[in-house]
Amino acid sequence: MRRLDDVIPVPVSAVPADGHFAITPATQVSADPGLAWVAAFLGLPAAPSGGAIQFALGLDGPDESYELDISDSSVRVRAATPAGAFAAVQTLRQLISEGTLPAGHIADRPRFAYRGVMLDVARHFFTVDEVKAFIDAIVAFKINHLHLHLTDDQGWRLEIPGWPRLTEVSGASGTGVGGEGPGFYTRDHYTEIVSYAAERFVTIVPEIDMPGHVNAAQFAYPALTADGNPVPQRTDTEVGYSSLVADSETTYAFVEDVIREVAALTPGPFLHIGGDEAQATTPDDYRTFMSRVLPLVGKYGKRAVGWHEMANVELPETAVPQFWRTEPADDGTARAVAAGSQVIMSPADRTYLDMKYEPGFRLGLDWAGCVELDRAYDWDPADRLPGVPEHALLGVEAALWSETLRSRADVETMTFPRLPAIAEIAWSPREARDWPSFRRRVAAYAPRWRAEGTAYHPSPTVDWE
Ligand code: ACM
Repeated sequence: MRRLDDVIPVPVSAVPADGHFAITPATQVSADPGLAWVAAFLGLPAAPSGGAIQFALGLDGPDESYELDISDSSVRVRAATPAGAFAAVQTLRQLISEGTLPAGHIADRPRFAYRGVMLDVARHFFTVDEVKAFIDAIVAFKINHLHLHLTDDQGWRLEIPGWPRLTEVSGASGTGVGGEGPGFYTRDHYTEIVSYAAERFVTIVPEIDMPGHVNAAQFAYPALTADGNPVPQRTDTEVGYSSLVADSETTYAFVEDVIREVAALTPGPFLHIGGDEAQATTPDDYRTFMSRVLPLVGKYGKRAVGWHEMANVELPETAVPQFWRTEPADDGTARAVAAGSQVIMSPADRTYLDMKYEPGFRLGLDWAGCVELDRAYDWDPADRLPGVPEHALLGVEAALWSETLRSRADVETMTFPRLPAIAEIAWSPREARDWPSFRRRVAAYAPRWRAEGTAYHPSPTVDWE
C-alpha cells in the first residue's frame, strides 16, 4: 500500500490514519451536479447518489484547493472549484495501489496559480495526438498551463487566414531542424487541442515569437524582410539572425492579423509574443516594435507574456515577463516587477527540459549546463532574482525546446522525471519540499510510467524500485 504522502507534488498536509479503503467491483462514485464529468477521470463506475466515493463542491478555499477524507468505508472529496476536484482526482490516482487507498486526511492547495510547461512544436512538429498524450501525462502532476511555441526560424505551425503560405510553405515537408519536423495545425486542430486541454483544466498559452525568430515567416512572405528579397529556408539551429522590420506598416498589418486570429482561437487570458534573442533588431527598433505590438495584444483582449528581454521596454502592468536565462540578476525584470508586473520563472539551468541530464546524453543541448533531477529540484523561484519576491511570481514553467527531439519517446525522456520536480516547486509549499522524500516518491511513481508506456530517464540520483 502507498503512504498517504506518496504524491507528487507533495500535498500541503497529509495526516495518515489506521486502515485503508478497498476498491472493489462494487465501488461507485457519486458527485455533485456539474462535477460528475470531473469525477469520471477517476475511471470508476458512477452512481447518481450513495457511492462510497463522493465528490462535492463547497470547500472554502482558493481555486484548485481540495480536501480528502479516506476511511475504511468511504472516500470524501471536497473542492473549492471543479479544478480543485480535478486536482483531487490526480492525488487519488497516485494513491491507488493494488486496489486500495491509504486512510487519512489530505488538505491541499497550490502555491502558484500558474504551473506550466512549454513544448516547442516549431523546431520539430508534434501532432494533435502527440500533444494530447503530452497533456495526459502532465496533468498527473497538476500542471495547468501548456505553452506552445508555435513559430520560429525553422517552421510556422498554425494556419493564419489571409497568410496561407505561412503553413503551406513553412509548415510543409522539409521544415524543422534538419528538415525533419514538418507539419502544422489547422484552426480546427488547434481548437481540438485547446478543448482537450480545457477539459483537463489546462490553459493553452500560444506563442508567436517576434520580432526575432521569424525566418519561417520571411521565407514564406519576402514582403516581411527589410529589402523585400527572398531569404533562404533555414533548418539549422543558429539563433538571433532574423527580424521583422520595425518601421514597416506591412509588419504591423501582418502582426495584427496574426494576433487577432490567435486571440480569437484561444479562450485563455495569455498570448505569448516571444521577444527573445532579438540580436538582429536594434534596441531602438525593438522599443518601436514592442510599443506597437503590446497594445495589439491588449486590443484583442489578451495579457502579453514575453521572454524577459521584453522587460527592457516599458510594459503595461498586465504584461508577464518570463525569465529564462542563467544570470543571477535581471534589471529589466526587477523594474517590471516594481512597476506592477508578475513574472513566470523559467531559469534555463533548472527548468529547461532540453538540457542534457549528463554529459554525452543522447538528446538535448548543454549551453546552460547539464540538469540532472536533483538540480531541477534543488532551487526556489522566490530566491532566484533580486527584486522578484514570492508575491511577484505568477508561477513557474519548464521549457522543452525540440532541436534534438524526433519522437514522443524523446519528449517524454526529457520531460520525466524533471517535470514532476518543477511541478512540486510550483504547487507545494516550500517548507513541505524535501529532496530525499521527492526521490523516494519519484521511484514509487515509476511503475505507473512503465505500465502506461511513458518513457522516462532512469536518473542515477534515484533508487528505482
Ligand atoms: C529562449 O530560450 N530563447 C527563450
